[in-house]
Amino acid sequence: MTDRISVREAGSGTPLVLLHAFPLSARMWQNQLDELPGSDGSEARVLAVDLRGFGGTDLGTDEPSLDLLADDVALLLERAGVEQAVVVGLSMGGYVAMALARRHPHCLAGLMLADTKATADTPAARANRERIAAAVLARDSVRLLVDEQVPIPLLGVTSSTERPRLVERLRGMIESASPQAVAWAQRAMARRPDSMDVLAGLNVPALVLVGEEDAITPVSDAQAMAEVLPDADLTVLPGVGHLSALESPNAFNWALRGLLARVTA
Ligand code: MLT
Repeated sequence: MTDRISVREAGSGTPLVLLHAFPLSARMWQNQLDELPGSDGSEARVLAVDLRGFGGTDLGTDEPSLDLLADDVALLLERAGVEQAVVVGLSMGGYVAMALARRHPHCLAGLMLADTKATADTPAARANRERIAAAVLARDSVRLLVDEQVPIPLLGVTSSTERPRLVERLRGMIESASPQAVAWAQRAMARRPDSMDVLAGLNVPALVLVGEEDAITPVSDAQAMAEVLPDADLTVLPGVGHLSALESPNAFNWALRGLLARVTA
């Protein structure tokens, strides 16, 4: 665990933990921090976490592991006096949410998995992560990631052609990531196990959401998770790619509010 977990917080009410995508930070959740507490600020207590190495959270010296990130989140909740939260993970954040479900299931009041998958990496995907990790460290620059992933495949075709300001914002967010954090996270993701069995045993309200144009974790991955979760809705957003919360915040928030209503019913 790390003692220095940075978190952006807004509102009061049902605790809602937001876990960001790779290689972003809690900054990606600005719209959700602004909107989800509601007009009087009492609908949700939103906690957007900077995962280890990103935003304001130090990387530390531990070996790469998503389990450590899940333990960080559990510790953060304990320190915030939160027994249970609705946990939202987008892509890498979804992997961390699944590690949290495996290691600290009592923390979950509900789960939203957005643009993510429960399967482990193939050998080819692992090799590609190691290629990226080694390259960003050798060059001491994350430029390679920007060149290979922005706007496509991180954004959908629609956003990449119609949302130039979002493309620029995304570039800025990635450029602020450190090569060390990028390499650490790639190696941690490469080591993650399959989580289908964890999802199958999870008896909390769940929502699986995916952008129809998601080229990294496509609709078929979302369908597989929704089928195995005992109590899950599946939402597919048209015209949206992998970063659904950024590409279509209103639709994302509307779906998430539906999950909050199920949890508090
Ligand atoms: C992410 O958006 O977090 C990444 O695409 C996840 C991954 O590399 O598997």
